[in-house]
Amino acid sequence: MNASPTDDVRPRLAALVTTLEEAGALRTPEWARVFASVPRHVFVPRWYEQETTDRGITAWRLRDASDQGLDRDAWYTAAYSDRTLVTALDPATAERIGDRTWTGLPTSSSTAPHLMAGMLEELDVHDGHRVWDVGTGTGYLTALLCTRLGSRLVHSSDIAPALADAARTRLASLGHTPRLTVHDARSGHPDATGFDRVIATCSVRSVPAAWLHATRPGGAIVTDLDLGIEGGLVRVAVDGPHATGRFTRTTGRFMASRGDAHTYPRKLRPPYAPETAVRPTTVTGADLRNHYPFRLLLAFHLPYAELVYHCADDGALSLQLQRRDGAWARSLIAGEHHPGTVTYGGADDLWATVESVWRWWNDHGCPAQDQFGYACEPGGRRYAWHIPDGRRWDLTGP
Ligand SMILES: C[S@@+](CC[C@H](N)C(=O)[O-])C[C@H]1O[C@@H](n2cnc3c(N)ncnc32)[C@H](O)[C@@H]1O
Repeated sequence: MNASPTDDVRPRLAALVTTLEEAGALRTPEWARVFASVPRHVFVPRWYEQETTDRGITAWRLRDASDQGLDRDAWYTAAYSDRTLVTALDPATAERIGDRTWTGLPTSSSTAPHLMAGMLEELDVHDGHRVWDVGTGTGYLTALLCTRLGSRLVHSSDIAPALADAARTRLASLGHTPRLTVHDARSGHPDATGFDRVIATCSVRSVPAAWLHATRPGGAIVTDLDLGIEGGLVRVAVDGPHATGRFTRTTGRFMASRGDAHTYPRKLRPPYAPETAVRPTTVTGADLRNHYPFRLLLAFHLPYAELVYHCADDGALSLQLQRRDGAWARSLIAGEHHPGTVTYGGADDLWATVESVWRWWNDHGCPAQDQFGYACEPGGRRYAWHIPDGRRWDLTGP
């Protein structure tokens, strides 16, 4: 027996559903009914509100519904807004910088409802489908799946035992009893297989072979792929060790999957090459920042390179591309008119790739992300392609 939302919550849920429908994220009556009946506040009794300190640092302020100081209205307002609510920070990077305020990298959150809705619509579940939800987190998405399919058909996994325990309690309070497991889900499910659908709310570098193995032929996976510079949501249909699909119309990015319950691995990077030259360019950091499909296409050309912010001594902000061999290139993102300049280091001029990809993208009508396919083949080979003309980019890598 599933608990229904109380009277004080029902109008807020209805307003959230209207927002999601108007945004085009909720597209079917089945999911609209589900979103209208799962009280999100139950899953986020504690969260971290993002702030920028007077020194310009991103910080997280803890809000806790059990505190005297936090009224119910503030809690419900946060829970029924279409926002991601961060719920856990990496202790290796989190430092207390004030009363109830920390810096640090988020390790769990309740994802923004529009993104959950978009992904669930892409997933295309039907009555009777068995679904594996990777990244239980707060349990909100698990509750949506249980409401749609029944607890018996829902499995959910998280790497963090404490998150899974809290989610189990919250789910049970609403009458949901899915199968919850605690492990690194990239290695597969410990005891279930033949899923009709897999949905992951943490990113992976490529669709793990273990997920293909866990999915029945004809089943489908929706996940966020992290290709370094950029990534995105893909939906692939599974046929044994093969998976083929495309980047989805729904856009959104997730925190990276990790092998530890609490912290991310430390990245070891080579020393960066000394500066080689400064030269004019017609493609600036602003172009990179403003066009998501262009960044994704650039990631196909330079798989697993990184794109980071660079702040100069005078405060000027650039976007910097950096490759594993130490080559780098950066260009200002603001206050610059074409032509801009690029500064680069390393044997080859990394920005020349940015310029040629920009030309290709513009010459092909600035295709959106869903004009690109994605496939995995046995042995770990994977590639993306431009669906209209079939041009391919090999993404096999680390
Ligand atoms: C964005 S949160 C999930 C949001 C969640 N679906 C919800 O509705 O609240 C991502 C979750 O993935 C989990 N995670 C990260 N790496 C993982 C891994 N290798 N295996 C399983 N879960 C993982 C994190 O602990 C975190 O709780």
